Amino acid sequence: MQEFVTVNFETGAMDGHLKYGESNIGDLVGFFEDEAARKALPQNLVVYQVQSYCPEAEGTEGGLFFGVSKVLPGLVGDEYFMTKGHFHAEEDTAEFYWGITGQGLLLCMDEQGRTTCRQISPGVLLYIPRRSAHRLVNTGNSVLTVGACWPSNAGHNYDRIRRTGFSVRVKNINGAVSVVPTSD
Ligand code: F6R
Ligand code: ZN
Repeated sequence: MQEFVTVNFETGAMDGHLKYGESNIGDLVGFFEDEAARKALPQNLVVYQVQSYCPEAEGTEGGLFFGVSKVLPGLVGDEYFMTKGHFHAEEDTAEFYWGITGQGLLLCMDEQGRTTCRQISPGVLLYIPRRSAHRLVNTGNSVLTVGACWPSNAGHNYDRIRRTGFSVRVKNINGAVSVVPTSD
């Protein structure tokens, strides 16, 4: 029998048989530019949470997963709270993201390191093409809630992002959202 899962599409609240993941400041070593600022924050401060409905075994071809990510508002130094970001381990898999609450940016970076930056807010549907890394950035003062649907064989590859990051960073500079090239 199929599991019964509910989603409130106005808030992103999900209920049922779900997986739950959480990343706090202590988990995000190497992802933000200002390591001293990251270390100075409470290590148990939550940056983002993900609930997902995975009706197939991880790695199954032809299936789908569904999730809701919540990125909290905040800064590490002058860089906005964001997800780690990843390429899919199975590179030829795409994904849909759509905005539910809050304001933010979706960064997509191709294999050559070219990053595009799109605004995400309630009602906006964004397609993430295969072979592109993706990261959510909360540029607002409230929780950024984003729905997602991706193939069950996509998997996650965080290694390249941990090593080289995206080619841009999203910062609050003099109160304005600024997308700046990553410094080496
Ligand atoms: C799944 C997907 C999202 C992210 C989530 C957390 O392929 O893109 O569900 O996994 O937004 O971000 P990461 O995985 O980059 O920590
Ligand atoms: Zn993904």
